[in-house]
Amino acid sequence: MTDTERLVHSLRSQGRFCAASGSLMYGELCELVARDVDAGGIFATILRDHEGDPARQAVPLRLLGGLHRLVLDGRASALRCWYPSTGGTWQANTAWPQIVRTASDHTESLRAALDQPPQTNEVGRSAVLIGGLLRINRDLRMPIRLFEIGSSAGLNLRADRYHYRYSGGSWGPADSPVTIDDAWRGQLPPQDPMWIIERRGYDIAPIDVTGKDGDSAGELTLLSYVWPDQSARLDRLRGAVRVARDVPAQLQRHAAPAAVAAVTLAEGSVTVLWHSITWQYLAASEQAAVRGRVDALAACADARSPFAYLTFEPAREGPGNSLRFLVRARTWPAGQDQVLGECHPHGVPVDWL
Ligand SMILES: C[S@@+](CC[C@H](N)C(=O)[O-])C[C@H]1O[C@@H](n2cnc3c(N)ncnc32)[C@H](O)[C@@H]1O
Repeated sequence: MTDTERLVHSLRSQGRFCAASGSLMYGELCELVARDVDAGGIFATILRDHEGDPARQAVPLRLLGGLHRLVLDGRASALRCWYPSTGGTWQANTAWPQIVRTASDHTESLRAALDQPPQTNEVGRSAVLIGGLLRINRDLRMPIRLFEIGSSAGLNLRADRYHYRYSGGSWGPADSPVTIDDAWRGQLPPQDPMWIIERRGYDIAPIDVTGKDGDSAGELTLLSYVWPDQSARLDRLRGAVRVARDVPAQLQRHAAPAAVAAVTLAEGSVTVLWHSITWQYLAASEQAAVRGRVDALAACADARSPFAYLTFEPAREGPGNSLRFLVRARTWPAGQDQVLGECHPHGVPVDWL
């Protein structure tokens, strides 16, 4: 396979994944871009030198995120009528000639976007993390100090401030700007009162969405990587940004090893370290540093200062098996390692075991 064939293949498989995950628009748009690259069109020019980039760089999502950004910030206002995120209606055949014109007019911006890793902070994953935290809360019943590595904008650090609906009930403040529908299935998490007294997030590229001085750049960055026809994800994200402006969390620019080194235990509270869809981005040495710090904190934990480690990460059980996205929790001094549930990488609905 040539590099161009590989790129076309990667655009098509990204499109199939988007369509299967509910984005008909990106399913069709990836296919149109793939045909354009194959035919040597404007997208072949934009993607030149990126044909051989490894799949984990997610070149198609970098490109589409860059295009979405132009629509959201008004530089490509002619596309607003086709993008559902700006009130438009997606129609592949009629939108495509305008997309090609926009790509020709903004070639340099789109090439620059290829150098930016996609920055997502998926609020749907709060349904996963809060469910795990409710389990830990029931077992330990103490105020919670929350630490997150790969926290992006820290939106999931405010997971207790969102409203979760499930068949037959709901949990969380009913007046929250964030409502997550069909959040939980199966064995529902326990619903005892929970008190989070500290929220700290660490990321190599933290995003500030608190809008200080009217700056909306952080919010636009996150929105641009959400697939534009996924209104539930966009609504959750916009609502979570409003919550973030009211509920403080400390965000620091730290790679995972420095982040976990900053986690300490405290008497009279449970210290929780969590991460979601972050493990794959860490170098092997960083993963080893996180494991080592978790072991060290676990060894120091006691009944007055317990420690919990909660993760939502992909796992493959044996070669040839498909990836599963599992919620796992482990608590110390007493608990066992448990798989609590499983769900789509975007977080909902969570099937609790
Ligand atoms: C896919 S995002 C997930 C964000 C968030 N955990 C969520 O579930 O919405 C992965 C995050 O990990 C961060 N990241 C990547 N490498 C990292 C590292 N070595 N140390 C800390 N954070 C890292 C990225 O900047 C990004 O914000």
